Amino acid sequence: MFSTRCKLLLDWYGEHGRDLPWRQTHDPYRIWVSEIMLQQTQVKTVLPRYPGWFDQFPDIRSLADASLDDVLKRWEGLGYYRRARLMHQTSRQIVSVHDGKFPAAFDAIMALPGIGRSTAGAIDSFCFAANTPVLDGNVKRVLKRWHGKLNLADKALWQLAQQGIDTSGQPANWNQAMMELGATVCAAKSADCNACPVQTYCASAFQVDYSAESRRSAPARHVHWQVQIHRCPQKGIWLRQRPASGIWAGLWTPPIIELEGAPDSAPAHIHQLTHRRIHLYPLLTDATPAGAGRWVRCIESYALPTGIHRLFEKTDFKLR
Ligand code: ADE
Repeated sequence: MFSTRCKLLLDWYGEHGRDLPWRQTHDPYRIWVSEIMLQQTQVKTVLPRYPGWFDQFPDIRSLADASLDDVLKRWEGLGYYRRARLMHQTSRQIVSVHDGKFPAAFDAIMALPGIGRSTAGAIDSFCFAANTPVLDGNVKRVLKRWHGKLNLADKALWQLAQQGIDTSGQPANWNQAMMELGATVCAAKSADCNACPVQTYCASAFQVDYSAESRRSAPARHVHWQVQIHRCPQKGIWLRQRPASGIWAGLWTPPIIELEGAPDSAPAHIHQLTHRRIHLYPLLTDATPAGAGRWVRCIESYALPTGIHRLFEKTDFKLR
């Protein structure tokens, strides 16, 4: 029974799987970059940014040789910049420890910064045909629904994922198919059971219990930040680099002051992170800035958080 289910899913993927650029390569560098980009960013956001990465960093050595600022700048728009910093660090580790060649052994892949078991499974199966399962959020949901057990723990899920890939005989296609089913047909908010190739094997077919699935996560904390926009007609805008850890680590912003509570005025922009809602209040000033920072004429050369770009768009000021 398990093998029939495997075949149905693989056939479906062959016919309906999206033609995505990282599915046309076995190059571990290209696969690694795609998997890291896709960890917390949607396919539609990654697609337009994926080719440009390789224009600037065509191989691991060019990434290792680049400055962190250039890497962060290239990451702009993808969010969660910690991933970019770890990739930069990892590229240097691959050069020093593996002579610039991406390792093929699962344990060696897992040992690289920023790569967990699921991402290592994706890379090893896609590039080296290893029987290593992916278990991301989509795959977990698919497995729980199939088995009609919403509270399956990770240990049991890894076993089921391993069983599936072992039976499939096509590890790369199997992992892609599981992710694809979860992303398109067996989606979090709407399962299209009519379109599902394995509906006859699924314990939840046509009766997905969405309310039981949605775990209540902790509500986002609201923070209120005043963004002090110092402009000078001759020199541009004053930016400073954020500390190496915390929100927007290593990115460039105008000086930011955390306010005690919400001021009377409405925020010009609210930036949503997973566990934070950042309310941004611009303060335009011609005062001389104090403390660390630099005058910047061309902000395009610096990596700024998307939230600050949005704030600038909504704030009526001219750089020059
Ligand atoms: N999300 C994570 N990995 C993916 C992949 N290879 N294809 C589509 N979405 C993904």
